[in-house]
Amino acid sequence: MKPLIGTSFKMNLTSTELTRYIEVLRPLIEPLTACDMFMLPPFTAIWAARECLRGSRVVWGAQDVHHEAYGAHTGDISAPMLAELGCTFVEVGHSERRRDHGETDAAIALKVKAVLEHGMTPILCVGEPTKGATASAVEYVTRQVYGGLKGIPGYQRAQVVIAYEPVWAIGVGSTAADPQHVETMHAAIHDLLDGAKPRVIYGGSVDVTTAAPLLGQEHVDGLFVGRSALDPVAFAAIARIAR
Ligand code: PGA
Repeated sequence: MKPLIGTSFKMNLTSTELTRYIEVLRPLIEPLTACDMFMLPPFTAIWAARECLRGSRVVWGAQDVHHEAYGAHTGDISAPMLAELGCTFVEVGHSERRRDHGETDAAIALKVKAVLEHGMTPILCVGEPTKGATASAVEYVTRQVYGGLKGIPGYQRAQVVIAYEPVWAIGVGSTAADPQHVETMHAAIHDLLDGAKPRVIYGGSVDVTTAAPLLGQEHVDGLFVGRSALDPVAFAAIARIAR
């Protein structure tokens, strides 16, 4: 399977800004056929991604979803709404949503189910909160993986992408986790889901320097890029490494 290289823009880029971003990105990534690529704009700019990415090698998606299809949930967005906008991927359980919105593993499992039911691919984010012994990180992440996939049958688990994102490695002032630690964690996640074989991608301060050693690890199936990918040239450069 090709490496999967994606980004979430988090709460960045208006639709006008995203349109300009894609104008710069498209010619740079057109020749890069050796990886699969996705981008997750804020809800308000998904329509622009659909308009500007059509016919390109990059698919688009969303950063969150409500678990119900419709109803009295002011401000929320449902899976059928995202499916109609042509979304391929929907991120669930990012640590910033767990932190800012109190999302639990049980709530996240319902979101995973909703995304699958509407024919899209969930990207389930997991990761230990603090830097420490690998054994306790494995224990923490195991709980999150089982919790986030609760009720999802084995045949559907293969369709889920797991994003291993140690919380301590995410955001301004952090540095990417050591490739050896990442490899151990990814191998452990692959073991947990033995048989299902989902793609396990790494996120947390990925940039043009850290991408190569991370992608060089046997169980790293791709990268989930945050702030580095706010520059389309850097995002393309990371995708180029995935060859
Ligand atoms: P970062 O974000 O690359 O800015 O650390 C990563 C993420 O949250 O996925």
